[in-house]
Amino acid sequence: MTDSARSTAADGPRVELRGAEATMLATLYGRALDARSPDPILGDMLSAETLDKINFDPTRTGLRPGDHYSVAMRAEFLDGWTREFLARHRTATVLHLGCGLDTRVWRVNPGPGVSWYDIDLPDVIELRRTLFGDRAGSTMIASSVTDPAWLAEVPRDRPTLVVAEGLVYYLTETDGRALLRRLVETFSSGQLIFDGFSQLGIRMQRLNGAVHKAQATLHWGIDWPTELETIHWRLRCTDAVGVFAASDFSVLSARYRVLATLGKNLPALANMARYYRLEF
Ligand SMILES: C[S@@+](CC[C@H](N)C(=O)[O-])C[C@H]1O[C@@H](n2cnc3c(N)ncnc32)[C@H](O)[C@@H]1O
Repeated sequence: MTDSARSTAADGPRVELRGAEATMLATLYGRALDARSPDPILGDMLSAETLDKINFDPTRTGLRPGDHYSVAMRAEFLDGWTREFLARHRTATVLHLGCGLDTRVWRVNPGPGVSWYDIDLPDVIELRRTLFGDRAGSTMIASSVTDPAWLAEVPRDRPTLVVAEGLVYYLTETDGRALLRRLVETFSSGQLIFDGFSQLGIRMQRLNGAVHKAQATLHWGIDWPTELETIHWRLRCTDAVGVFAASDFSVLSARYRVLATLGKNLPALANMARYYRLEF
């Protein structure tokens, strides 16, 4: 960890968040540590610069040494699916739910035919506006994703990609299923891409340092892709990829190599965290 990754900007916006909102500081910190590591996976320097601008001690996020690898790998994986969708649909809408301070829109850099929406709770969007300002082609919406009203602000006449990284398990199962159903009913075609934990992952949440430190609670556990397909008859799960199978953990620290080997070989662990891609 570099000194700059530890530093806080005394004159920057002071960040006092708790619960699910605070967890986006851990992912920002993870991307910043990755960017400043000798062999970055994601190489997201804007995240590192953004972390430097806020008045906050990132070591309070509960991110343990090496955890930044998994943060960077998850972001890189979902960036890949985002790019694939946008390569097929030059004219599209992207709904980036639970965006936090994620810089995905800069990493993916969509073309002029894409309308991008970053949606998160009001305190987070206020901080996001202060730190990032406006960007052509992208719009921020301050709302809970579970409130149906925000959908009125979004165009419905083009293929729609919904990206939700690090979000769905903070919703209750009832709210999460209602959200996915509403999205499918609102847009004529598109994809939903997100990461999810199994019920076992939810039961083991006390071991998740970032969730614990933020005093957040995980709710919705997904054991099988078929559970998602029952939400709406138009939903088809095309991919359910175990997190350990998705990335090359062999390049990482010994602790992560052991975890990845267990994760690939023990079925309960292999399915504990997955990436999902659904089409409708
Ligand atoms: C783990 S962070 C992930 C942030 C971002 N996606 C990233 O990867 O850096 C979880 C995010 O979900 C947001 N969130 C949780 N519940 C939400 C809700 N009901 N509506 C909108 N955003 C929510 C939090 O505010 C937080 O920004």
